[in-house]
Amino acid sequence: TRLCVLISGNGSNLQAIIDNISAEKLDAEICGVISNRPNAYGLTRAQEAGITAISLDHMQHDSRESYDKALQAEIESLNPDYIVLAGFMRILTPEFVNTFSGKLVNIHPSLLPKYKGLNTHQQAIVNGDEEHGVSVHFVTPELDGGPVIIQSRVPVFEDDTAVDLADRVQEQERRIYPLVLSWFSAGRLKMVNNKAILDEQEL
Ligand code: GRF
Repeated sequence: TRLCVLISGNGSNLQAIIDNISAEKLDAEICGVISNRPNAYGLTRAQEAGITAISLDHMQHDSRESYDKALQAEIESLNPDYIVLAGFMRILTPEFVNTFSGKLVNIHPSLLPKYKGLNTHQQAIVNGDEEHGVSVHFVTPELDGGPVIIQSRVPVFEDDTAVDLADRVQEQERRIYPLVLSWFSAGRLKMVNNKAILDEQEL
């Protein structure tokens, strides 16, 4: 199973995927990592693991359509089975999303449908939520709105800062994203009619 991982920053989820592949817990290969930010630390992580690391700077494009076309071309040249958004902080055009429908997954740091978009940890704290978490979902044209595959919950403690809470959530991210990818690799997971299906059962 060939995975193309898209990142914008640190790449801790990318690292978890790399580590799970090395430990033979995930039967897959990363055929390339693409970042829209040239200085993303995740590109260094990829290089250190001997993985093709591509910087595709969105600042070099004057429209979202133009960027997404270039991104699509890079991805197609890598010939992946799945495209894994791992801290990729850009909204994708419907054309791009539809091109890769069923092959695109994202990890979002909230218990969707709660808190789509940014600053999810801060919102959970401000709203006094007792629990928070992370979701892995198929990507559809609706932002953070595609069918959820798995969620992991964490408690929110009274004196938590957004950073404390993000750390607690990210520990779960590093656990569940490789798990979901192992389901792809085993042919157990797909999207049918905008629904996530695992082992022929709707999630
Ligand atoms: C993660 O919290 C992810 O859920 C969010 O961005 C962060 C990326 O972290 N979308 P990393 O780059 O994988 O370390």
